[in-house]
Amino acid sequence: MDELNGRARAATITALFLLFSFYAPAASAQTFAKGADVSWITQMEASGYRWQNDNGTQQDLLQILKDHGMNTIRLRVWVNPSGGWNGVNDVVAKAIRAKNAGFRIMIDFHYSDSWADPGQQTKPAAWRTHTFEQLMADVYQHTFNTMNTLATNGIFPEWVQVGNETNNGMLWEDGRASANMRNYAWLVNSGYDAVKAVSPNSKVIVHVSNGYDNALFRWNFDGLRSNGARWDIIGMSLYPEPGNWQTLNSQTLANMNDMRSRYGKGVMIVEVGMSWDQPTASKAFLQDIIAKTRAAGGLGVLYWEPQAYNWQGYSKGAWNTNGRPTIALDAFIEGSTPPPPGNSVTLQENLTGFCGVDGTVDSNHAGYTGTGFANSNNATNAGVRWRVNAIAAGNYTLQWRFANGTTGNRPGSLRVNGTTVSTVALPATGAWTTWTNSASVTVALRAGANDIALVATTSGGLANVDSLTVNGSGASASACN
Ligand code: GCU
Ligand code: CA
Ligand code: CA
Repeated sequence: MDELNGRARAATITALFLLFSFYAPAASAQTFAKGADVSWITQMEASGYRWQNDNGTQQDLLQILKDHGMNTIRLRVWVNPSGGWNGVNDVVAKAIRAKNAGFRIMIDFHYSDSWADPGQQTKPAAWRTHTFEQLMADVYQHTFNTMNTLATNGIFPEWVQVGNETNNGMLWEDGRASANMRNYAWLVNSGYDAVKAVSPNSKVIVHVSNGYDNALFRWNFDGLRSNGARWDIIGMSLYPEPGNWQTLNSQTLANMNDMRSRYGKGVMIVEVGMSWDQPTASKAFLQDIIAKTRAAGGLGVLYWEPQAYNWQGYSKGAWNTNGRPTIALDAFIEGSTPPPPGNSVTLQENLTGFCGVDGTVDSNHAGYTGTGFANSNNATNAGVRWRVNAIAAGNYTLQWRFANGTTGNRPGSLRVNGTTVSTVALPATGAWTTWTNSASVTVALRAGANDIALVATTSGGLANVDSLTVNGSGASASACN
């Protein structure tokens, strides 16, 4: 299509659909998304694949996923794929099927004729000789046309990914982030604008792999931000091994908290997977990352192609070779299993979760942990504040490390979410360099963010406070407002 004609037509259709999409059903934004990318489903069915439920009865794959607690289907789009799989017609057919089955929908634009990921961001053949200006128009047109075709079929996806695992940008070389961050940002904006032109309520995701790699995410999104890019949600992939998922999940939690506070955007785990033949480890990994994503205020967790078994050499599905799901898929059925036990978090003055002191953060008395301690003003009502996330409502145990070089008690009134619940004694320890733990206090926390404060009840102020440790299932640090 001639570019100018295309733009003129796009403008007309945009106007029509702007009108239209205000009547589209409101996105059910409040519920946690659990789901799967099943883009291979039609190709697998065409080669004779069928799936069975836990009891060995053959069923529609989407029904099996729904019966395992899933509510979301993700679908990738390729520009002009050989064979047609993941081209616009195939995507629309799958989206209609998912919508009719009651699923929420995420569309994932690769801007390639085949796989786009951290190792390859190959331009579609039809765009190969285009200038950068043309590439921006290509991204806009392809995104607009695909969204438009979906809209014509009554589908306004709740989420749309502009690019897939764009760790180093997209449409190489022009959009290679390390070489030209501005081009990457402008391509993201081309996609963003096209999505919103057709479906203003759709949330635009920029997606980077290795959700545990905070430095990578800061580099990518700092670059996008400083070049004026627009996006709504930060998407992450996570593919750990049975031996390192605990470490990577904790790092991913920290990264999710950092992304939320640094950019003020939602976060979502848009791809996870683990080897299908390690179902016990995979289930534990999934339960934990779902709990941590909830704790971080994240928006959802999606498994990548769980239905793959004996298929194209892909080993990170969640299906047995007998056609039934592995137990890993049960992780998406929440409520049946408690969150992982024994999580504890220590909040330090230099870390997320420390929300300030009426006084100073000092480091002049040895023996503290972290980078120092909170020295409150010597006055009644001088306080120290923290914020803690609880996966679920329940009892959590709080304990402070402190030093008090005076001869008297320097107690603190404990306030949880604004309510005074008890008084914590912080008695003399003999010297300002002698640190000790307070008695522990068990308090009820609500699910999600909780504000915790110690406030001086005497004119001497508080003792010096080194840290707060929170013990209990699924406690984590939460960014302060
Ligand atoms: C000393 C001490 C401080 C402490 C203060 C107090 O100045 O160095 O760390 O906070 O006494 O009495 O509160
Ligand atoms: Ca003091
Ligand atoms: Ca400290």
